Amino acid sequence: MTPMEKTVISAGLVILALIEFFTAMYLFGNKGAKPLARAALAAHRIIGYIFLIWFIWVVWIGVDLLARLSESGTGWQFHGPRFYHAFLAIVLLLILILKIAFVRFYKNYRLNAKWMGFVLVVGTITVWLIAGWFYLISVGTIVTD
Ligand code: HEM
Repeated sequence: MTPMEKTVISAGLVILALIEFFTAMYLFGNKGAKPLARAALAAHRIIGYIFLIWFIWVVWIGVDLLARLSESGTGWQFHGPRFYHAFLAIVLLLILILKIAFVRFYKNYRLNAKWMGFVLVVGTITVWLIAGWFYLISVGTIVTD
């Protein structure tokens, strides 16, 4: 898997995060009648679990990429953006697992699902921007001749 392929695969996560945001906003963003509430909640749940599996997959690819990068070249060096990208991704995964646990099992903490959801949306976009978008820009700006 190349950084380019990972960037494109991760863009799918950004799209899922935005769908999660808009289903949540439909449900909790305003008062008033919501004829599609059941469908929106079902969609939020199903897409949330797809997001979880997709996220684990992308983290797995990222760990593999990091391992390969650290082997190639003359020596492993600390790389700021790469560190923050990987660190934030792991934190987001833990927040998502905790959020699901609060909704499913530890219901006294269920109210926290809302702010955790916002952190997940903002965090997903941020993680993607740190490496993915900037990677695409760098690829686009390389002059080959
Ligand atoms: C990447 C973004 C998000 C993901 C992956 C995600 C994931 C999930 C999942 C998987 C569940 C279902 C848990 C279960 O029933 O087992 C859930 C429920 C919930 N989410 Fe999100 N969510 C996201 C964004 C948001 C946002 C922005 C909000 C803002 C309000 C939010 C609020 C909630 C709430 C309140 C519940 C509980 C719903 C209920 O009453 O059953 N989520 N989320």
